[in-house]
Amino acid sequence: MKKIYAIAAISICLITLYSFDALKKGSLVKTTMADSLEADRMTNINKVLASIKPDEDRRADSVFKNLKIMRGVRARVLVSTVMYNWSHALGVSCNHCHDTNDWAADTKIQKDIARSMVGIQSKIHRTILDSVIMHYENHTPHLSCLSCHHGQAIPEY
Ligand code: HEC
Ligand code: HEC
Repeated sequence: MKKIYAIAAISICLITLYSFDALKKGSLVKTTMADSLEADRMTNINKVLASIKPDEDRRADSVFKNLKIMRGVRARVLVSTVMYNWSHALGVSCNHCHDTNDWAADTKIQKDIARSMVGIQSKIHRTILDSVIMHYENHTPHLSCLSCHHGQAIPEY
C-alpha cells in the first residue's frame, strides 16, 4: 500500500514540475499559433514596405489611398508600428481587417470597426483619463487596444 502512495506522490510531483515547465515556455499550441501569425504579419509588412520603398518616410496620407484617421504618421510607422500593434493586440493577422490583395479596400467590416475603436480610445482619453491624470504620480494613465483586447479579437466580458 505504501508503495502505491509513494508512486502516486512521485507522479504528482513530476506532473506538477512538467506543468510549471510548460507554463514557463508557454503552452505548445499557443506558441505555434503565435509564431505562424507572426510570420504572416511580417511577410505582409515587408511586402507593403518594399512596395513603398522610396516614399516610406513621407506622411502616410500622401502614400496610401484610403486613410480617414491615421493620416499624419509616416508611412513606415503606419505599417510597421500601428498595423503591427493592432494585429498583435487582437491576436490576428492582417487579413482579419484587410483584403490583402487590396489594402485600401473597405470590404471587411472589421476595418471600419477598427476606425471606430480609435474613436472610443481617444474619447476615453479625452473625457476620462485626462481628468484623473492628477491622481497619478509616477505614470500617465493610458488606454490602448491591448488594454481591452488582450490578444483576442472579441474581448472577454
Ligand atoms: C484591426 C484591424 C486591422 C488590422 C489587423 C490591420 N489593419 Fe491595416 N488598416 C486598418 C484600418 C482601419 C486602416 C485605415 C486607417 C485609416 O482610415 O486611417 C488600415 C490601413 C492600412 C493600409 C493603408 C491602405 C491604403 O492604401 O489606404 C495598409 C497598407 C495596411 N493597413 C496594412 C496592414 C498590414 C500589413 C497589416 C498586418 C500587419 C494590417 N494592416 C493589419 C485596419 C487594420
Ligand atoms: C474600451 C475597450 C476597447 C478598446 C480600448 C478597444 N476595443 Fe476593440 N472591441 C471592444 C469591444 C467590447 C468589442 C466588441 C466585441 C464583441 O463583438 O462582442 C470590440 C471589437 C473590435 C473589433 C471587431 C472584432 C471582430 O472580429 O468582430 C475590432 C476590429 C476592434 N475591436 C479593434 C480595436 C482596435 C484596433 C483598438 C485600438 C485602436 C481597439 N479595438 C480598442 C473593446 C475595445
